[in-house]
Amino acid sequence: MTYSRILGTGGYLPERVVTNADLEAFVDTSDAWIRERSGIEKRHLVVEGETCCDLAERAARLAIEAAGIAATDLDLIIVATTTPDQYFPSTATILEQRLDIHGCPAFDVQAVCAGFVYALSIADKFIRTGSARHVLVVGSETFSRLLNWEDRGTCVLFGDGAGAVVLGATDEPGIVVTSLHADGAYKEMLQVPGGIGNGDYDNNRVTMKGNEVFKFAVNVLSKLVEDTLAANRLTMADVDWFIPHQANLRIIQAIARKLHLPMERVVVTVADHANTSAASIPLALDTAVRDGRIQRGQLLLLEAIGGGFTWGSALVRY
Ligand code: UT7
Repeated sequence: MTYSRILGTGGYLPERVVTNADLEAFVDTSDAWIRERSGIEKRHLVVEGETCCDLAERAARLAIEAAGIAATDLDLIIVATTTPDQYFPSTATILEQRLDIHGCPAFDVQAVCAGFVYALSIADKFIRTGSARHVLVVGSETFSRLLNWEDRGTCVLFGDGAGAVVLGATDEPGIVVTSLHADGAYKEMLQVPGGIGNGDYDNNRVTMKGNEVFKFAVNVLSKLVEDTLAANRLTMADVDWFIPHQANLRIIQAIARKLHLPMERVVVTVADHANTSAASIPLALDTAVRDGRIQRGQLLLLEAIGGGFTWGSALVRY
């Protein structure tokens, strides 16, 4: 049997840092409100001309280096993003060219904040079926470009960044199991209403019913984690590190409470980069790998939710 495992991780945040105090200058908000309601202290934002693929390339190169392979060893590239550089070609193919790789398949996945878990699941299946041996999976976002900077209910919550992993084929899991879900009935709760397809070019900024997203996220994610563990005859005690989507510290704490999980076993990076959508989980993963918290052989549980809604989990033996 062939499985996939994480060979290396990488992360990149744009250089420009915008603190909550900086936001106070042009948004009707306060550092105290943002910290108290979301746990966010700052975010990193791209500057003019800096694109999703620029961030993806930085994270990808670090992940490839950490994996100890050459870029030319990759036989599949998947980029999870809601903010691609262009309508087409995909950001994955632009990244492929930047890495000087020519010929292997490359495509983008669009599942908003759940995009990385979706992409990881797809990559795992390519490896398990023998269709690929080394896969680059990137979550990269320039979400700041989708924000209405006059809507204080959303603009203070998001940031830009990229995270990446290289998966390799192995004899034992690795990625133990992934679980993906979606329900478009909740579209109105979190969306960018405009698009090229519906001809609505004006409504191209994020709208969100924050309270409802909050409640849905806590309920569906804690149930997803419980179901994932039960299906694999595990309990939370077996999990070394819980790596949730980094949207709001209060959502993370509420889920941990429901799961009776001490916060000491939860990786939390939201204070430093806010909600970076598809980049949030690989950024948190890379942080905890590089600072030595996550060790080889440990069991990780990843989960995320995004607009749609889309949501998913991954149980990973690191
Ligand atoms: O990947 C999934 C993406 N999204 C999320 O995970 C977000 C989920 N939702 C949330 O994180 C929270 O609902 C928010 C952080 C968005 C809001 O927190 P809340 O505790 O649910 O606050 P609220 O929406 O109930 O608003 C409370 C008050 C309101 O004022 P009034 O009506 O009580 O006078 C808002 O107008 O806070 C006000 N408010 C703000 N005040 C200062 C809303 N945004 C801000 C702001 N600064 N940025």
